[in-house]
Amino acid sequence: MNNKIQNDEITKLYENWLGVDSYIKFDEYLKEKPILSSLAVSTEVSSSVPTIESPVTTQVMPVIVSSNQAGPESMYSSLENLAIKVANCTDCKLCESRNKTAFGSGNTNRPKIMFIGEGPGIEEDRTGEPFVGPAGQLLFAAIEKGLLMKREDLYFANVIKCRPPEDRAPLAQELEACRKYIDAQINFIKPQLIVTLGAPAAKVICDIKEGITKVRGTWMEYKGIKVMPTIHPAYVLRNPPAKKDFWEDFKLVLKEVTK
Ligand code: URA
Repeated sequence: MNNKIQNDEITKLYENWLGVDSYIKFDEYLKEKPILSSLAVSTEVSSSVPTIESPVTTQVMPVIVSSNQAGPESMYSSLENLAIKVANCTDCKLCESRNKTAFGSGNTNRPKIMFIGEGPGIEEDRTGEPFVGPAGQLLFAAIEKGLLMKREDLYFANVIKCRPPEDRAPLAQELEACRKYIDAQINFIKPQLIVTLGAPAAKVICDIKEGITKVRGTWMEYKGIKVMPTIHPAYVLRNPPAKKDFWEDFKLVLKEVTK
């Protein structure tokens, strides 16, 4: 979509999306669409690279630059290197119960939008990819049917790379331990725009003190990149009427990317 989109077109997109999401129909949509596991950056892992598997792998041996250099961007030599570092991270207790880290997936080359969620759930922990569970399916439906964008053109990551036990909310010290990774990831990927999903992502990226319901739908900024904080798709799944707010925020994003 290159041209400026008109308001009535946006309304039409909204109606299309509501059609998909009118619960029973949304279930049907999920049945039609197998869970995709093809979004991770796919290159071969070197057999000499240490143990824990990561969705983002590399052929070259990692060169981890000394971590006493300033700033997240100077600490890792490449995105692949960063993913390896994450896959082997033991900086908080979540490493003890994880199966796989869910690093990120999608277009790593200055995508129009980078979506940042909370953290892996059971499916993400099993596959090592973000947003492969039901919340991801809702998000992808909104992207494809609402924004008319292809998910593979965008990038997806989380503020926490390991699944918290029983899917509890991440603790402050876990968010703190992991934040260097999302900072570095954003720096490598250089998205044109960021959408945060849910309160923990908005707290980390936008440094908000208020609840997500107060700040959602308001443009914020992260190091010169525009950020739209919105509610989490898992919340929308639990509270269907919240899809209206979710879509209102998506409309602002749509307007911004089609300016
Ligand atoms: N899956 C993710 O990868 N992140 C979320 O925040 C929720 C589900």
